[in-house]
Parts: sequence; C-alpha cells; structure tokens
Amino acid sequence: MEYFIARHLSFEPVLLDTPLAIVASITRKFRKFLAVSCTHGHLADPRATKAMLAMRERYKPDTVLHLGDFTDMAALRSSAKPDDPDRAESMADDLLAGLSFLEELRPTHVHLGNHEHRLVGLAHSGNAVVSYAAGNVLGRIDDAVKRMKAKLVPYDGLRPSACTQLGDALFLHGVLYNVSAARDHAEALGMSCVFGHTHRVAQEQGRCQRPVVGYNIGCGITLDVGYAQTRRQTLGWANGFAWGEYTDNLCIVRLETLSPHYRLPL
Ligand SMILES: [Fe+2]
Repeated sequence: MEYFIARHLSFEPVLLDTPLAIVASITRKFRKFLAVSCTHGHLADPRATKAMLAMRERYKPDTVLHLGDFTDMAALRSSAKPDDPDRAESMADDLLAGLSFLEELRPTHVHLGNHEHRLVGLAHSGNAVVSYAAGNVLGRIDDAVKRMKAKLVPYDGLRPSACTQLGDALFLHGVLYNVSAARDHAEALGMSCVFGHTHRVAQEQGRCQRPVVGYNIGCGITLDVGYAQTRRQTLGWANGFAWGEYTDNLCIVRLETLSPHYRLPL
C-alpha cells in the first residue's frame, strides 16, 4: 500500500521558464502538439474519442497530452450518499476504458485530473479496504503510464508541479469552474494556459499587462451523462480538443469543438 502511495507521490518538481528567462539556445523550430481532456473512462463519447484519435493519426504531433480525468471514478465521489447509484459504478470497467483510450492515444504526458485525484486522498483512508483499492488503482495507472513511456503529472492545482510547459503556455487539468475560468486560469498563472476541467470550450484573454490567454479545450465525455443531467451548467459542455505548434519560447493554440458541427481540420 505504502509502496503505491510513495511511488505515486514521487513526482519531480517542474521548473518553469518564462519566455524572458530563456536567453540562449532558443529552438525556433516548430513542433506540433495535441491536447485532450476529460474523457472519463467508460463514459467517453465514441464520436469525440474517435475525432481525437483521428487527429492524432493525421496531425502526427510530437507532444500528445491527456490533461486528466481519463477515468470517472464516480463511485468515489465524495458527495455521493451511500445509496447513490454512483456508488455502484464499476471502477474496473472505468479504469479499463480509461487506460485503453490512453493506449490508443499514445500520450507523451498524462496529467491526473480531480477525478483521479480522488484516489490519492482515499489511498490514505482509515478504511483499509478503501485505501488498498485506491492504492491499487493508482499503481495500475502508474504502471500503464510507465509502459507508455509517458510523463505522469500530478493534480496539484495551479502549482508548477501540475503544469507542462510548451513554449510560453502552461498545460494543466485546471481547478476553476466559474464562467470566466479561461480568463481566470490565465490570470492566476500569469501565463497563457491550456486546460480542461470545466468541459466547456472557451478562449479568453487575461487582464494583465503582458497578454496572456486561457484556452479551455472541452471534453470527451458523453454530454448527457447521468450525474450531470439535472444541472443547467451541463448544457454548456462541449466535446473538443486543442492542437497547435510550439517552439522553445512561444505556443500557438487552436481550439476545436464538435458542437454543433465538426470536420477534421486537416
Ligand atoms: Fe476535472
């Protein structure tokens, strides 16, 4: 048990370089990236994941990021009451579907989202059965990501350790959920950023002296998923992803949404 937790928590800190801090050996060669988020395991929308995988094959990106919530882990939802149907959701099916999608995506970076982060808290549960199960699932995620030779990035809120930097943009799962989450993430980080979490597609510039932009890249979850049906907020969800190019000191981000229409952009 401790083994799983210790392995999981042994992330190396990420040092961020601002564009101004990079003064020598700047590579101006453009490289390509693809970023997807919030596919939620067995709740993924087949049309959305098919579009993401088709883009991966067609665009041939150098860097492929899954920004987190590749599983749903509904059974672990802290607000679910003991007899809530979410408690009966299969963690095994969810994990299998989430890891299968990652294997098809062949990511270079796998971020943990708040849904996977539920496991981190429960790995320390006072209930030995719960902590064993959560630690085991974390171990299986860790093993799978290692097999893919991808970098596993923790869910550390807005901290540098939660971010992957490409050029002058930070990629992270995201923590804010308000209507101006795109703007607010960029302002909080003081840098342009690409994130998932809200399941919305949005782009907004932060109110900073140096222009920074937040890109909210949508999700891959089925949009009428049961636990979200009673919330108006859910109507704003959209399947989507981000792609673009980057050098050592800049990042150009393009947003794609499948709502209401979609055609492979290449
Ligand atoms: Fe999330």
